[in-house]
Amino acid sequence: MPYHESFPQRRGRLLTSTARLTLDPAFLIGPVEPRLFGSFVEHMGRCVYTGIFEPGHPLADADGFRTDVLELTRELGVTLVRYPGGNFVSNYRWEDGVGPVEERPARLDLAWRSLEDNSFGLNEFLAWAARAGIEPMMALNLGTRGVAEALELVEYANYPGGTRLSDLRRAHGVDKPHDIRLWCLGNELDGPWQMGHKTAREYGRLAAETARALRRLDPGVSLVACGSSNSGMPTFGQWEAEVLESAYDLVDYISLHAYYDPADGDVDSFLASGADMEHMIRSIAATADHVGAKLRSRRKIKLSFDEWNVWYQSRFGGEASLEWAEHPRLIENVYDVTDAVVVGSLLITLLRNADRVGVACQAQLANVIAPIMTEPGGPAWRQSIFHPFALTARHARGQVLRVEPECASVSTDKYGEAPAIWATATLGDAGEITLFVVNRDRRGPCELRVALPQGLLPAEHLELADDDLSAVNSAADPGRVAPRPGTGLRMDGRDATLTLPPVSWTMIRFAPQE
Ligand code: AHR
Repeated sequence: MPYHESFPQRRGRLLTSTARLTLDPAFLIGPVEPRLFGSFVEHMGRCVYTGIFEPGHPLADADGFRTDVLELTRELGVTLVRYPGGNFVSNYRWEDGVGPVEERPARLDLAWRSLEDNSFGLNEFLAWAARAGIEPMMALNLGTRGVAEALELVEYANYPGGTRLSDLRRAHGVDKPHDIRLWCLGNELDGPWQMGHKTAREYGRLAAETARALRRLDPGVSLVACGSSNSGMPTFGQWEAEVLESAYDLVDYISLHAYYDPADGDVDSFLASGADMEHMIRSIAATADHVGAKLRSRRKIKLSFDEWNVWYQSRFGGEASLEWAEHPRLIENVYDVTDAVVVGSLLITLLRNADRVGVACQAQLANVIAPIMTEPGGPAWRQSIFHPFALTARHARGQVLRVEPECASVSTDKYGEAPAIWATATLGDAGEITLFVVNRDRRGPCELRVALPQGLLPAEHLELADDDLSAVNSAADPGRVAPRPGTGLRMDGRDATLTLPPVSWTMIRFAPQE
């Protein structure tokens, strides 16, 4: 039953709706998996070069890592980073990026028509990751390469020593094995744009054979099979089913990718992206479980949402439109307030499905559709989308609670009716509950009533909203869009009531009374 008895109600020019939700520590979904706060560094545009790595920059350390970007990465709360692609990996030779820099070859990156000088490679990435305090997630080239090259890379990276490749790593100055746990078996191989694109049957077999061999070499690895490149692919669902029929017992995760865009000015559908992401997660979980049932398996395949974000893809002319260049400015989207609210809602979706999604990576980290922007030789700053990520990564702790708001709905052209209020909450060890909530309704504010367990009181209330939804941050004005303290939250017995502005993201921490 919708709660909006008084919806809509005129207040000035805006329509005010009402909604309510209950926070109950008894309704647990599952633990907050730290790997949900992952990011992605691809050799694409300026993500690596002049993004995280810029020798000669005034703030670069002795290894050429930009310390300003390292600090922002830590502040963002990123726990894991996928590397080195993306489409880039499907024609990449990892050997080109190790050993003495002056001996590394320059190559053509066919994915993004870029010249790659290989001055940054595996060992640089792993040194950077250690400095940032994040777990690496490596992608293997199963586009133009196969089982043998995947085995060679894992031997180089993870085997302690005494073999040709592990000793080569040691000769390259890395004595201890990198011990990389998480490996992607290729990238988006269902896509015809991918170097080495395959049918589901071809890829399923290759993924299974690669997984079998890698497990023999290093039984401790966790493996991610490629799912569909997006939910609009003609083979969406069928691809996952066929791949898992070949590789079910050999892999741990199946990947999902989704980018959202206010294409054709359809902002209502764009604001409902979180609901679409949830539909996608549940569809692929059901597909995996269907295969598991047919195979009489008791294993559950988890989901790795290893590329997600807002990307104005409809404004991108495609790879074929690119001129050959060295780390060009590629898809450097500038994000506004609406984009930040959508990113907040996508994070809410990932948490709502924490029982199934074990890994998630926002794509990408720096410059390329990224929360962190840099200028070569110049400053680094936070885009609007930085803020919901950083606050969610910092405060979503403990267990995820099931939260189902009773609220109005918004009609969307792409996804039909979507709930106006999108929410999740986490329960920390000290009994504190943090609520993350989005009002995706453009028509007006929403008066939200939150039923709380006994003894909790509001401790922090932050809000990302703006009268100008197109406001952005820039090098000149890096603080234009930022979360501000929310106002007007009042307690009425055990209920908290507050007003959520139209198109807003809100976080409230409720802490036990002293
Ligand atoms: O993140 C940009 C690109 O989007 C990645 O290279 C690819 O995997 C996806 O299509």
